[in-house]
Amino acid sequence: MKIIANFKMNKTPLETKDYLMNFLSRVKECPHEIVLCLPFTSLFVGKFLTEGTGVKIGAQNICDEDEGKCTGEINGAMLADAGAKYVIIGHSERRTKFKENSKMINKKIKCALKHGLNCLLCVGENLVERNTLKTAEVLKEQIEDALKGIYENELEHITIAYEPIWAIGTGQHPTAKEIDVSANVIRKVISNDFSVQAGEKINVVYGGSVEPKNISQVSKAKKINGFLIGGASLDYNNLLQILSTLK
Ligand code: PGA
Repeated sequence: MKIIANFKMNKTPLETKDYLMNFLSRVKECPHEIVLCLPFTSLFVGKFLTEGTGVKIGAQNICDEDEGKCTGEINGAMLADAGAKYVIIGHSERRTKFKENSKMINKKIKCALKHGLNCLLCVGENLVERNTLKTAEVLKEQIEDALKGIYENELEHITIAYEPIWAIGTGQHPTAKEIDVSANVIRKVISNDFSVQAGEKINVVYGGSVEPKNISQVSKAKKINGFLIGGASLDYNNLLQILSTLK
């Protein structure tokens, strides 16, 4: 399974170092692929400390341009050089707070792939869309917009994170059955737009209030390949607990 932590805007480089010093020695035998998506400023310390451990680091954003006058932005080459193997793209917090639109998200995916980064494309419905039974429609639109111009052989570098907005940081989460329904929608979109095989092979993870106390419940979902964990990952003990439940 892919177990991905999203630290969001948390932890200084020193705090990241402390976290990693405690965490890394405890996951040596872990059978899962662990990815820690750190703030930009912690990437380098992350790269340095995770070298040779099997734990990968990722970023939480990427510029949609490779060069030019982009004050304050970080491009794909910089992320790769700083040690990122993954990058989160299209997180709902970026779509809403930072006004990222589908065109930008599509460009970001292309920039990430160009620099050898694996993409974690976040998609998911808000509460109104859920209540009006629009989830499938929303997922289809978000995926198709994000993957315009992407070739089937590039999909192995793309993981789709199903993150219902109403479940992020709220303590609420869909049932395992509901997660599977959405994962099936995602696979169907990929299978229609690329191939049946691509739909089966694409990595889909679930994110939204995954915590030690609900991991055994949400991990009953059978159509996903892992989890994207925000708040709970900030304490390494919680992440370790989640990992041990998944063993
Ligand atoms: P959460 O965040 O686990 O705190 O709900 C998940 C995310 O935003 O990726």
